[in-house]
Amino acid sequence: MAAQRRLGVGFIGSGFIARFHIQAWQAVRDADVLGIYSPDGEGAESAARLARDLRVGEARAYASIADMVRDPAIDCLWLCAPNHARVENMEEIVHALKTTGGSLTGIACEKPLARNVAEAKRMVELIEESGILHAYLEDQLFSPGLVRGHAIAWNRGAAIAGRPYLARAAEEHSGPHTPWFWQGAMQGGGVLNDMMCHSVEVARFLLTAPGAPRDSIRPEKVSAQIASLKWSRPEYADELARRFGPEVDYRRRPSEDFARATIEYRDGAGHRLIAETTTSWSFVGAGLRLSSELLGPEYSMQLSSLDAGGRLFFSRRVTGAEGEDLVEKQNAEQGVMPFVGNEAAEYGYEDENRHFIRCFLDGRQPELGFHAGLEVVELLMTAYMSAEQERTIPWKPEGLDQYVPPVAAGTWKP
Ligand SMILES: NC(=O)c1ccc[n+]([C@@H]2O[C@H](COP(=O)([O-])OP(=O)(O)OC[C@H]3O[C@@H](n4cnc5c(N)ncnc54)[C@H](O)[C@@H]3O)[C@@H](O)[C@H]2O)c1
Repeated sequence: MAAQRRLGVGFIGSGFIARFHIQAWQAVRDADVLGIYSPDGEGAESAARLARDLRVGEARAYASIADMVRDPAIDCLWLCAPNHARVENMEEIVHALKTTGGSLTGIACEKPLARNVAEAKRMVELIEESGILHAYLEDQLFSPGLVRGHAIAWNRGAAIAGRPYLARAAEEHSGPHTPWFWQGAMQGGGVLNDMMCHSVEVARFLLTAPGAPRDSIRPEKVSAQIASLKWSRPEYADELARRFGPEVDYRRRPSEDFARATIEYRDGAGHRLIAETTTSWSFVGAGLRLSSELLGPEYSMQLSSLDAGGRLFFSRRVTGAEGEDLVEKQNAEQGVMPFVGNEAAEYGYEDENRHFIRCFLDGRQPELGFHAGLEVVELLMTAYMSAEQERTIPWKPEGLDQYVPPVAAGTWKP
């Protein structure tokens, strides 16, 4: 495997995130985007065209997942379909591996690994059965600013003054772009499931010493709260139904648009560590805002994605069309507006894809694999349990494997 020079990559799903990865692929040297499968054939054709236009590979649309697995040109798959298709996609891959004579080197799965713990365990079972290398795609852990801030805080601050004790991570925007995200059953929950997966891992990464294993700090308890602050208001519920169709019914089946969780960890030396995370779909600012902080005894670090680029000013006479050309999930086109130079780099997609391709080329199992993804799902489900029971829950609670949050079950009454 190590002698292999380049890898051919196929994407399952051709939507928002697949296109972001294709954009990011310009910074990956050892692999080419060769295939795209999505049930909407035109989406696959257009993503393949994007890959060819960007010269990241001679990509073409495939008629099925099995066709990609069968093709010797495809060595790896990037799972970028909606959450409700995860297990179905993995089962199809494993079945195709058994029946088509095809083989794969690695599979990378977008966040979250699955909608709940039972499904996440099934994903782990399937990948173990296949014997293939695996990656859990948590882009924010590769964000250049975060990686550098983490390294400097630890190498200068922690080395002299002692390890950090508190990390904060937040992800906020004004709401997702496609209907399935808004439907608890399809997505697995609301903003907690959708975005706190990022913040949980960012806070954990910040509290972990550079180079130390992920499990060098262990969770001890989780306390969380969820709320529907904006989108279940009648006028906004009606707006969602107008934009996304009657299946998105926030008068009857809302999902949370605000979530916060505090996770307490302990390190090997017995230090108590706190991760504070907060996420929301009810933040109307310039656009997507990722913020993080790391606090230690004599130092602190802070980062915001909206401060990562520059600023433009448009007077009231500039009334251009709506777009996301300045920043992801942009909310305005006038006044002082921040912009990000290269979002695919800034949010971590470039370094993420380069890292995992190198692991796969070298035949090396990345630490950030499906088992890490499973633990993130376990933490998120514990957070839902805590919110439901309105109490702090010791890690790891009984009944986690069968737990489905009321938001996902369609029974949540905020
Ligand atoms: N890392 C991040 O920051 C980030 C950002 C956005 C989305 N995501 C994750 O990526 C995944 C996809 O999200 P998105 O925003 O691209 O969604 P999207 O709705 O924009 O695109 C989904 C794509 O999957 C295809 N699809 C639908 N059903 C499918 C099936 N059964 N099998 C295969 N393909 C299918 C659709 O045709 C479409 O091309 C989700 O799991 C989401 O959580 C991650």
